[in-house]
Amino acid sequence: MLLSVQNTRRVAVPMLWRHMNDGKQRGQRQQLNQKYPIRTQIVQQSTAVHVKPPNVDNKSYVDILDAEWQQALPYKAIPGLTRFQMWRGFMKGGDFANLSMNDLLLKCRERFGDIYRMPGIFGQPPSIVLFNLTDFEKVYRTEGVWPVRPGGEIILHYRSSRKDGFFNETMGLTAHGEDWGKFRHAVNPILMQPKNAKLYMEPMQKVNSEFIQRIRDIRDPVTLEVPDNFISDINRLSFESVAVVALDHEFGLIRKNPDSKEARLLFDSLTTFLNALYDFGVKPSLYKYIKTPSYRRFEKSMDTIFDITNRYANEALARLERNPAKAGQERSVLEKLLKVDRKIAIIMAMDMLMAGVDTVSAII
Ligand code: HEM
Repeated sequence: MLLSVQNTRRVAVPMLWRHMNDGKQRGQRQQLNQKYPIRTQIVQQSTAVHVKPPNVDNKSYVDILDAEWQQALPYKAIPGLTRFQMWRGFMKGGDFANLSMNDLLLKCRERFGDIYRMPGIFGQPPSIVLFNLTDFEKVYRTEGVWPVRPGGEIILHYRSSRKDGFFNETMGLTAHGEDWGKFRHAVNPILMQPKNAKLYMEPMQKVNSEFIQRIRDIRDPVTLEVPDNFISDINRLSFESVAVVALDHEFGLIRKNPDSKEARLLFDSLTTFLNALYDFGVKPSLYKYIKTPSYRRFEKSMDTIFDITNRYANEALARLERNPAKAGQERSVLEKLLKVDRKIAIIMAMDMLMAGVDTVSAII
């Protein structure tokens, strides 16, 4: 179940979900549709029609969802915290003051059940938290081609306020709707290729062999147990594995160069970024109105991730120019992305690091 909760951070929290159905609520529904036009479009563009019937009655998934939609309760009927409870809860001595994201989600689940509303405070959008896999499936099968997935607002805020306007054309995978769709359209043909597994088989094998050797080096010779701080080795493994693809660079963090200053800087920045998702995305924060010291720390970390990624992308570009692809030669993912568009390549590499390192560590 813990896994579901960790997934919830990435999968289910950022949902703005409305159930409006019967005649009485139609007026209210229209009002909400005007207020949130994108969600309306998502409902109309449901991809569920492509789904095979999961039942024996020859009912399509969309029929089943339609029937369920008729029974749906209004959005307001979803239980959850009020804004005041949320704000008070995070104040000193409040119920949530010292809770981690997971503990907060679990505590609210005890109070409200498997579907609940989490209000947004100080300009944040509200979220719906889901715990059941069947509900996850409904969301994914009906979100359409231009999904709106709040949850990365803090990244959007950083990206849109960068002075150099680097993200003016696209916000990458934190974008919503059409911008997100266009970005995926550009990167999918390169990233979603089974042959990538073959391409990275050897470098990944190398990273994994190093990791096995590292375990042999550090385990207790008698009990064969690894030390208590083994998680830092797991973190190095995840970082090294994702960086091989995202930055096309071997840091050698596992054994050769475990204290690489640059990797440490990047890793610490990724940790600050992850904490920010909770500190600014869920907890009450005034960052949209004033640059708090913690927002500045986050901004600095995002700048670091940006600068380092940019540098490795430039190195890959230089490699491409020095050594253009020969017939039949398979280029790296980063190089292929760079050939499509330099900006897209850099943003994709950043997004891979930001989304890939902690998830892999958590799974291991
Ligand atoms: C086993 C570990 C992993 C888990 C459980 C995991 C889980 C997820 C989930 C649940 C999403 C959200 C999907 C959505 O809302 O549509 C996601 C998105 C994403 N993941 Fe992973 N992931 C893992 C590993 C990775 C790795 C290794 C990378 C990169 C190398 C990565 C890169 C991404 C990116 C870039 C997105 C955003 C996709 C988009 O918005 O279009 N993930 N991941």
